Amino acid sequence: MRFINFDKIRTKRNKMTQKIRWGIVGLGNIAEKFAQDLSVVKDTELVSVASRSREKAEKFASKYNVKNAYDSYTSLFHCTEVDVIYIATPHTLHAELSIEAMSCGKHILCEKPMAVNASQLKRMIAAAVKNKVFLMEALWSRFLPSIIQTKVLIGNNTIGAVTHMNVDFAFYGMDRPATGRVLNPNLAGGSLLDIGIYPVFLAYLILGKPKNILASANFHSTGIEKQISVIFNYDNAQALLYSGLTSNSEVKAEITGDKGSIILEPRWHHTENLVLNTQGQTERMVVPKLGLGYAHEILEVNACIRSGKLESSLWSHQNSLDLINLLDDIRKISGIVFPFEA
Ligand SMILES: NC(=O)c1ccc[n+]([C@@H]2O[C@H](COP(=O)([O-])OP(=O)(O)OC[C@H]3O[C@@H](n4cnc5c(N)ncnc54)[C@H](OP(=O)(O)O)[C@@H]3O)[C@@H](O)[C@H]2O)c1
Repeated sequence: MRFINFDKIRTKRNKMTQKIRWGIVGLGNIAEKFAQDLSVVKDTELVSVASRSREKAEKFASKYNVKNAYDSYTSLFHCTEVDVIYIATPHTLHAELSIEAMSCGKHILCEKPMAVNASQLKRMIAAAVKNKVFLMEALWSRFLPSIIQTKVLIGNNTIGAVTHMNVDFAFYGMDRPATGRVLNPNLAGGSLLDIGIYPVFLAYLILGKPKNILASANFHSTGIEKQISVIFNYDNAQALLYSGLTSNSEVKAEITGDKGSIILEPRWHHTENLVLNTQGQTERMVVPKLGLGYAHEILEVNACIRSGKLESSLWSHQNSLDLINLLDDIRKISGIVFPFEA
């Protein structure tokens, strides 16, 4: 078993001592995990949080030892002690909140999908350019050591030319409240933008934009798409992608080339375990992550801000645009329309 250690990279980054001061808006499920990972990154401080509820903001602030708790998102956008804001609300609020915060001069890390469609995303990028602030989609998997190692292996031709990918991400979500963000079409619910974005991202990262796309979805009574199968067709490869809310799935990614294969073990989007099959040999690799895995995107944001970069070279504005364009195309083909877009 090979043990791949990325500690050297972390040490180099952590030598930069200027403290980056973070704020979080929308104190739900992912905000909790993100706050935990902020605490494992050196020279980083969570200084402000904002919720629509004062009580919730104060509870969160006391749990994570945060100085400022606001009961309005706008108050946090004007907080002079904050450098960068993490937007952790449902998808439908990402664009407007990010644009408002950027107009106050704040750098932004915005949860995925960064916007609900390409036209929203273009407005966000324009706002980042106009206000000369950093903007990045919180596509945490892109920064994980196991995904970086996968890219290195493929770049080194270890498995030859990639001809096939099979990637899934599904969980049972049909028991969620109909008004919650997963099943509610008014909050851009459905599996595709919530979790299907990960298989689409991996196919794009490894194979680029497809020549054509096939997609078919089933719908729930609330109007959201509850499961979707997608084929990305390339000249010499096909990627089979699945997401759904109707059952649990393995959440595994298999990438096959003409000389071997790489399996990203469950749950692949934040895995530490790769299996490399080449020439009849199987090698297991352990690629550790920091914290829950969100620490790697935090390190990337901190490093970009410290060096004055306005976008990440690992996950650029163009990468986010390509991804949302693919999701828009899939939605068009499979008939997924949100009420606010109709
Ligand atoms: N990277 C990942 O691993 C990951 C995992 C899960 C989710 N996400 C993404 O993160 C975002 C949030 O997901 P989540 O699971 O954290 O959702 P969640 O638990 O529902 O929390 C979202 C928060 O947004 C705020 N909010 C503002 N307007 C709202 C509205 N109309 N309805 C509901 N909440 C509203 C609420 O915070 P206040 O009440 O404090 O204002 C709420 O707690 C989504 O875009 C999702 O795609 C990413």
